Parts: sequence; C-alpha cells; structure tokens
Amino acid sequence: MSHTKVSNQILKSIQNTVNNNKINILNNVYNKTDLSNVTNNIIKHVGRNLHLQKNHPINNIREIIEKSIDSTSSKPFIKYNDLTPVVSIKQNFDDLGFPKNHPGRSKSDTYYINDTYLLRTHTSAHEVECFQKMQTLQNNGYLISADVYRRDEIDKSHYPVFYQMEGSKTWARDNSKKFFNKIQTEIDNMKKQLSTFQNLSIEDVDYTHEPESVNCKQSHMTDEETSILISHMKRTLELVVANLFMQRYKNYASTSSKSNKKDEEVIPEIKMRWIEAYFPWTQPSFEIEVFFNGEWLEICGCGLVRELAYKNAGFPKETQMGWAFGIGLDRMAMLLYDIPDIRLLWSTDERFLKQFRDKEGIFKFKPFSTHAVMSRDVSFWLNTPVHLNDFMELVREELGDMVESCSLVDEFVNPKTGRKSQCFRINYQHLDRNLTNEDVNELHKGVEKKLIEQFGAEIRN
Ligand code: PHE
Repeated sequence: MSHTKVSNQILKSIQNTVNNNKINILNNVYNKTDLSNVTNNIIKHVGRNLHLQKNHPINNIREIIEKSIDSTSSKPFIKYNDLTPVVSIKQNFDDLGFPKNHPGRSKSDTYYINDTYLLRTHTSAHEVECFQKMQTLQNNGYLISADVYRRDEIDKSHYPVFYQMEGSKTWARDNSKKFFNKIQTEIDNMKKQLSTFQNLSIEDVDYTHEPESVNCKQSHMTDEETSILISHMKRTLELVVANLFMQRYKNYASTSSKSNKKDEEVIPEIKMRWIEAYFPWTQPSFEIEVFFNGEWLEICGCGLVRELAYKNAGFPKETQMGWAFGIGLDRMAMLLYDIPDIRLLWSTDERFLKQFRDKEGIFKFKPFSTHAVMSRDVSFWLNTPVHLNDFMELVREELGDMVESCSLVDEFVNPKTGRKSQCFRINYQHLDRNLTNEDVNELHKGVEKKLIEQFGAEIRN
C-alpha cells in the first residue's frame, strides 16, 4: 500500500462534515433533526475503507475468509464491498424484525443522522436489499464487507467504527431428493476439507426441538430442511475459523526463533464450540466460539434466515430458505496478528504500515515503542443522569485517538440532594508521539469544559 493512497483517502474522508443544521457524508447532504447525534470525529472515518486497502490486516482477513467460503461452492459468492454506511432505520432495524424497544435502537447506542437515516450498526442492514438483488442475479450466495458504527465504551478493543463481514446463502425450497443431495454434496466436500486439519476439536450443539422455544425451527420448515441447512452453515463457518487459525499457527511457528525449535513443530489444537444464540432475523441462531489464549471468544453469530426477511425482500411466501452469518474483522485481525490496540488499525504511521506492506497472510505484528499512558481523573456533580456512552462520546469527540481507555471509577448519590457524583479515569496516550504533562493538562481542561457545556456538570476539585 502506498503512503499517498492513504493520505488521499484521508483527505477525501475529511470532506464529511457536521455543522449546526446539516450533515455532509460522501457528498450527500442531510438535514439534522433532534435525533441526530453523529459527530465530526465519527464521520471522518467514513470512506477510509480499511477493508479494501491492499495488505492491511483487515483486508487480509477479508480475503482469507472470502477464499475459504468460495471453496465450498462451485460458484463464487457475490462480493459487496462498497455499500454506503448510510442506511435507513428501516433497513438497519425494522426490516430485520427488531422490536421497537430494542436497546440497539437507542440514541445512546447508535449514530443517527436524522429521523430516517443512521450509520449502519451492522452489515445485516443490507440483507434484505441483497436478497432482492439475488432475484435477478442468478447467484444464491453473497458476502458483504463494510465499516459499521456503534456508540460504545473506550478501551483497547472498542472503537466506534469497526468492520464486519456478512455472508448468506439461499435456496429455493424444493422437496425432491435431488435437491437435498446437491446440498449434501457440498456438505460432504466441506467435511473432506475439514478432515485435512488434524488438530481441530469441535463441540456442537443442536437446535432446540421444543416447538415453542425461541431457538426451535421455523414452523414452515421441516426438520430435514432445518438440519441440512444448519449443517451446511456450520461446516462453512468451521472451515473459515480453521483456515484463519491454521494460517496463524503455521506462520508463527515458521518465524519463531531458532532456540524454540522444538515448539515450532507443534501446531496447537484449534478448539471451537457452538452455542445457541438469538438474533431477531434468524431462527434458530448460533454463535461459534474459539478457545484462544486461555478463554472462549465469540467469533461469529449466525442462523437460518427468518421468513420475515425473505418476505420483506419480496419473495413469494415460504419459497426460500437459507443461512446468514456476521463476523467481526477487526477482532479477528487483532487476535491473529497480535495487534494490541484497536487504534493501531487506523494508524498511518510508517512503523505500523511498513510491517504489512508487500506481505501476505497472517504473521506476528511487532509492537513499536508505545508512548507512556498518563491518567487523569475527573469528578463532577450532575443534576440529571448521563448515559455512560454519552460520556464516552464526549471524550472521543474532544480527544479523538489520544484517549487509550476511559472508565467509571466511582459514583454515588447524595442522599439529601439526590444529585449524582461521578468520577471517571481517562488514560491519555498518543500512538505516534509523546504527550507532555502540559499537553495532558490542557486536553483534560478541554474535557472539563465540555462537561460543563453539554451536561451542565459541576466539576468537583
Ligand atoms: N449482525 C449480527 C451482529 O452484528 C451478526 C449476525 C449476522 C447474526 C447475520 C446472524 C446473522 O452481531
């Protein structure tokens, strides 16, 4: 990846702006409403497209997954890699069956542009539109990779912008033997591929067979259809996980120092397990977890597409069946390359970029000197409660990437006045340069000023 390309992309994205009454994103102008809560700090990330930058870890993970999934089918999946992040509330939530009171819809969790649009909170926002396109494209599988936006806490693994890959495969229902045999042949092919990994351990879980339970089969589908699709989906995703982790273990082993010669030959076991899950637009739903560095990590949510989503895409009633999944690409990149801080993925620092340039596959990232973290606390009284994510957003808007993490360290309510006092610890750190004490004092004052202006906070000394 050339440096100029990165700078050009940054320049391009800087054209996104929020002012008093208008929001300009990717050359479209939106009128603000009371619901608008996107900030300049957030929309400057729109258009960076890390998932398409040659050799960027997020791009590499995308390519490995695409390749793994294409290997399961005679026809490559359609790739949608540049869908705009501005989607309607209907696309992101309503069409997928999110209840009106779902917490994901709240202004404290989601970046709203106005009463109609938001920054997608997940790639599933495009599911219905991709099902619609499928009807003319003569291809029943697609993959979407894209940036998604969520208001969240601030720490080394959370960033308000991250990347997801969505995938789905659909079949027109048909109860002939030939039809089931065709699906089974694909499953058998995947099983064959999986058997070439000698170090896999997979713990499975069945769907619930109680008819009324949340995770039972959909009533219009038969047990045979449900089982075969679940098997197809699970083998597809097991193969993805196996391919990703195998690359990591192999390449790490071949680059480890000579003195560890013995360890080099041992490829650790890739341990996965399936658990039941819940998503409003899939049923039954599952999650795959991987045992890594001593803990079980959720890697990917998935399930059989609910009739509701096919119906919203305009398919005739109960004619389709299929599966869908969503996987976090930043999380995978951090785990597999050993990248310690999510902010690094956005870095334009040569010390980061040069480690990936002209290199393929997965390897160990070598951390370059990190600058000292400096902590400051801020305590304040509030007359009305403030959502944790609103505090985090204020900090992000004021400090951008100069905050490493931020946490609530203390809170109490004065029994007499009912007023709440909160104390937050902000850990300041710039990834590319040292911050001086004076810099941090100045930045911290800026945060205090915003707290007074935006929340009417009274700073305690
Ligand atoms: N969109 C879900 C998420 O963000 C993942 C998912 C995608 C689950 C597709 C099921 C089907 O967590």
